[in-house]
Amino acid sequence: MARSKPYVILSAATSIDGKIATRTGKSKLSSQRDLERLHRLRSRVDAVLVGKKTISMDNPLLTVRHVRGKNPARIVLDPRASMPANSRVVMTAGDVPTIAAVSEMAPARRIANLEKRGVEVIMCGRKEIDLKKLLAILAGRGMKRVLVEGGGETNWHFLRDGLVDEIVVTITPYVIGGNGAVSLVGGEGFAGVICSFRLKEITRMGSELLLRYVP
Ligand SMILES: NC(=O)c1ccc[n+]([C@@H]2O[C@H](COP(=O)([O-])OP(=O)(O)OC[C@H]3O[C@@H](n4cnc5c(N)ncnc54)[C@H](OP(=O)(O)O)[C@@H]3O)[C@@H](O)[C@H]2O)c1
Repeated sequence: MARSKPYVILSAATSIDGKIATRTGKSKLSSQRDLERLHRLRSRVDAVLVGKKTISMDNPLLTVRHVRGKNPARIVLDPRASMPANSRVVMTAGDVPTIAAVSEMAPARRIANLEKRGVEVIMCGRKEIDLKKLLAILAGRGMKRVLVEGGGETNWHFLRDGLVDEIVVTITPYVIGGNGAVSLVGGEGFAGVICSFRLKEITRMGSELLLRYVP
């Protein structure tokens, strides 16, 4: 029987104090060794997914470069189809499959602009993006593994909706601090029942710790 959703791995590099970027948006925390591990993981999934702010702040390529391997598709949660036309994912959409998940709020003109640049647009959800629906569409296309690479708000939506099958976090040897710095998980946060995971694996990589959790 076909699965109703791909296996979702949430991945991030955090500081010791659980931040994923400084208050000014600096987010390059991983060592070269950790980057190679991340790129190996990317090469083994069908798609890498990020939120629109990560595209605006970091302008990532989301490809496999530090090791040999195939590029996964790239998915951006972009409810209003407002990601910059000169962002690297949009500029390279002709070379690497790139999907913008938009909601019904996205103006037709902006959708057309993305499509003109080779970005495939999937509409799901009225205001928010309906992640269950999006994952069902991806599963229907044969996608088996999706890597969610942040940022904090995107991570929150996946955890809130109970869609995460594994969390892989690299704790890097930095302290960032600041109430305005983005944490691993943002959004509203849990109030009563806290979402819990079981520690499956610990790997020490020099001053970094790689932790793998499952529900
Ligand atoms: N260290 C790391 O591993 C790492 C990894 C990734 C990112 N980062 C850092 O994280 C920061 C960005 O994180 P962030 O929390 O500010 O933003 P984010 O999660 O990258 O993007 C948030 C935006 O994505 C859209 N979005 C996400 N989930 C949605 C949903 N279910 N429905 C509708 N729209 C949804 C919304 O776009 P709209 O704004 O258009 O509504 C939302 O504002 C950056 O500084 C980046 O450097 C660090």
